Amino acid sequence: MALQSFLKRQIHHLPVYQPGKPIELVAREFGLDPVQIAKLASNENPLGAPEGALRAAAAVLTQSALYPDNSGWFLTGKLADKLALQRENFVLAAGSNEIFYLLADLFLQPGTSAVMGAHAFISYKIATVLAGAEAIEVPMPDYKHDLSAMLRAIRPDTRIVFLPNPNNPTGDLIPAEAVLEFARALPENVILCYDEAYAEYQEQPADLRPLIAEGRPIVCTRTFSKIYGLAALRIGYGYTTPELAGMLNAVRPPFNTSIPAQAAAMAALDDNAWVDHCRRHNNAGLVQLQQGLDAMDLEWVPSAGNFLLVHIKNADKVFHQLQCKGIIVRPVKGYNLPSHLRVSVGTEPQNDRFLAELKCMIQT
Ligand SMILES: Cc1ncc(COP(=O)(O)O)c(C=O)c1O
Repeated sequence: MALQSFLKRQIHHLPVYQPGKPIELVAREFGLDPVQIAKLASNENPLGAPEGALRAAAAVLTQSALYPDNSGWFLTGKLADKLALQRENFVLAAGSNEIFYLLADLFLQPGTSAVMGAHAFISYKIATVLAGAEAIEVPMPDYKHDLSAMLRAIRPDTRIVFLPNPNNPTGDLIPAEAVLEFARALPENVILCYDEAYAEYQEQPADLRPLIAEGRPIVCTRTFSKIYGLAALRIGYGYTTPELAGMLNAVRPPFNTSIPAQAAAMAALDDNAWVDHCRRHNNAGLVQLQQGLDAMDLEWVPSAGNFLLVHIKNADKVFHQLQCKGIIVRPVKGYNLPSHLRVSVGTEPQNDRFLAELKCMIQT
């Protein structure tokens, strides 16, 4: 195939991002009613989005013939107020995922490297390999980021260190003090991409803004896909130094966030009560899942996110059996975890169903 031979060499080594299977696909494949399917595979918010955000998105659909405001003036203004920063500190993106690729576009190329945990969110590795750079994967004993080992793994050619807190799929949370110490210990020209996709699930997430104010090259990424329940609208953001925000804004595709996404995000930011409600709901769901798994003598990894990593011997088989029953979870082989499944916290009845079906499967 001539086209194959024209591909950039690194494409052949690209890790595969395995997304959670969509409900409609599983319904078709297994002849199930979509309404009966519980998707616990993508760490979405089972309670959905705040009403105000949905109304705001619907209200601007009449503007569908127009391109969005490329600068995201109103949303970046709102974010700046909320985080006590300036508009110049922000970059908007089609999901926080896009920012990892923008950073890789800016700073990674053959002959450079990025450091990340061996079970860290897989997009970091994909973005790194796609840019032709080397992904240095640091072992994570007990499913936790080993910050000292990550510092030691940094080489002269290292440009970015990726650190999710908490991480997906392991759920490990690094204490705030340790994160700050790590950020301060990084060489001054190594960028820290600090991924806060699940920050709103924490009562008090680590705060790297003082270090950004000192001018350190730190990019914090956040998303509206998780607690704000807006995954379909694809909107996230990064906050960083004005210099790095300027660079990221220069390479992001024009109009990468839509009018409905910007409107929904603005409304969602106003709804603190929703965030508190979803956090409490998630904490209760985690306890429900943990107790159910304990009752089956299954090991799980403590999680600060809206998901749980469960040790299951024949993970592949159980994944398929659960799908037949209309429950979609996530295999994590691609994360070097072939004997685990990741289950997202669902509604109370969805969690119950998952536990009940799992119980039948491991008994047979
Ligand atoms: C750790 C982590 N970071 C980033 C993302 C990306 O989210 P999005 O691109 O929807 O903002 C995810 C999504 O699952 C995630 O788990």
